[in-house]
Amino acid sequence: MTDERDERILAALREAAPAAASGEAIAASLGMSRAAVAKRVSGLRAAGYDIAAEAGAGYRLLAAPDLPLPSEVAPLLRSGFWVRLTGGGSTGSTNDDAKALARAGAPEGTVVLAAEQTAGRGRLGRAWASPHGGVYVSVVLRPPLAPADAAPLALVVGVGLARGFATLGAETGLKWPNDVVLGGGKVAGVLLETSAEADRAEWVVAGCGVNVRRSPGAPASAAFLADATPDATPLRLAAVAAACLDGIASAYGDFATGGFVALAEEYASRDVLAGRDVTVRDGAGEVRATGVAEGVDGSGRLIIEGQDGEVAVAAGEVTLRPDVREAST
Ligand code: BTN
Repeated sequence: MTDERDERILAALREAAPAAASGEAIAASLGMSRAAVAKRVSGLRAAGYDIAAEAGAGYRLLAAPDLPLPSEVAPLLRSGFWVRLTGGGSTGSTNDDAKALARAGAPEGTVVLAAEQTAGRGRLGRAWASPHGGVYVSVVLRPPLAPADAAPLALVVGVGLARGFATLGAETGLKWPNDVVLGGGKVAGVLLETSAEADRAEWVVAGCGVNVRRSPGAPASAAFLADATPDATPLRLAAVAAACLDGIASAYGDFATGGFVALAEEYASRDVLAGRDVTVRDGAGEVRATGVAEGVDGSGRLIIEGQDGEVAVAAGEVTLRPDVREAST
């Protein structure tokens, strides 16, 4: 949708705003012709930017679209971890796009953004509804780890999202293994896809779907970030995307230096399952464990204290068991 040259044109327009920036000066600073600048300004208008052309003055940026375009997200990033941002409009699945880039050798820190997905995927082969009003972002990671040691990454990304949401004024909880929750509803989900050799993860694509504003047809179980952030500052999708990316970069950095132990306390403080009666089922719906959730171990497994003692579960879907409490009282 937008690329690095567009970003540089926008940077010049933002720097000049509220005044106009001369097309000639922009062309000279970017080593482009004036015609090439005019063509790119047309492209930016097509992407949703409101840019006025003023005779004798140049181009004036009047408004930017509320989309997670690279050109909107990049200037908001605090972390230098993200090396390349792509996408920002509509796509099938940002995870598929990021996987294609990873397979083609894209470096760690590559990002694919979308304002809408037509074939968004969730865990366990489910669809992920991805209408406008959300942020859909996938990142390429290349952790120098054995696949088993990379196992806690879904939780690491969850902690990162929670950190990011906190910077926007929303305190969220974490529901093992991959949900970020807000007031009892799911506000974000994480889908991790990995290519590994025997002793090394080649790449990991971590895809995050964030419900920002309620849209028609949203599932009843969904929560929305905009409902938890101060009304005075309407949430822009680019700000949400940047907060997610900064949060993920900081949590991944902590994980890279200290392992999951470095995040364990923070995870525990947001763990909405701790002390609750739960059932864990596999993708086929078979019960894998039942008991009281006791937090996660250093490998990111959910610890469950059941009738036959403690078990550590590596994957599955958790449901709360309010019925059990009622039955036992
Ligand atoms: C889940 O909770 O089941 C995980 C949902 C993950 C959805 C995100 S949206 C961005 C990325 N692209 C996809 O197709 N899926 C992930």
